[in-house]
Amino acid sequence: MKLLVDIRTRKALLALAVAASASVALPALAQAPAIGQAPAVGQAPAIGQAPAPATTAPAAPAEMAAGDKPVSYSEDQATRGKETYTRVCADCHGDDLRGGLIGGPPLRGNAFDDKFANGSPASGLFGFISTQMPPDSPGQFSPAVYAELTAYILKQNGYTSGAALPTDLDALDHLIIQK
Ligand code: HEC
Repeated sequence: MKLLVDIRTRKALLALAVAASASVALPALAQAPAIGQAPAVGQAPAIGQAPAPATTAPAAPAEMAAGDKPVSYSEDQATRGKETYTRVCADCHGDDLRGGLIGGPPLRGNAFDDKFANGSPASGLFGFISTQMPPDSPGQFSPAVYAELTAYILKQNGYTSGAALPTDLDALDHLIIQK
């Protein structure tokens, strides 16, 4: 956690430094148009674009906001989740989570990551499963069982175990799925 904060702080400082050096360079550029062009609407984008790379740089780490932690689950949850998954979900999503015989999308890989991982809070994945799955009777399990299913999917996606995954949505909001 401290490491993450340090990295973020350093990136932010770096961004500031780049922005600062960019703004030092800018007055020289800004002097190019004649003074008569003062409103210089046409010039504005050029000035605005210069620091853009600096502002995009810290965007990804910034998703791990204060109070957020990397997601974790207990091995116990994943083990129980596997049992339920195999019984209820595997026909559609595959034993290996790579897609099943009757039409469920893969629960690993790029498309999955874009929707549910890559910095998303665990509340997204847990929320989807617990309200939409299985399609013929969504919400049929207890929150604890949905947390176990979520834990198993996380494990199969390579996330490491640790503290148990909670079922509380507010808590899940602060647990970030990020490799
Ligand atoms: C009858 C087939 C079927 C069963 C059984 C089923 N699913 Fe699904 N699942 C689907 C389909 C179809 C979608 C895509 C629906 C959508 O995008 O709205 C989906 C989507 C998902 C997604 C989102 C994937 C994505 O990339 O959008 C997750 C996560 C998921 N299912 C988990 C589960 C879990 C966990 C179970 C077992 C409790 C389960 N599903 C049972 C068919 C199934």
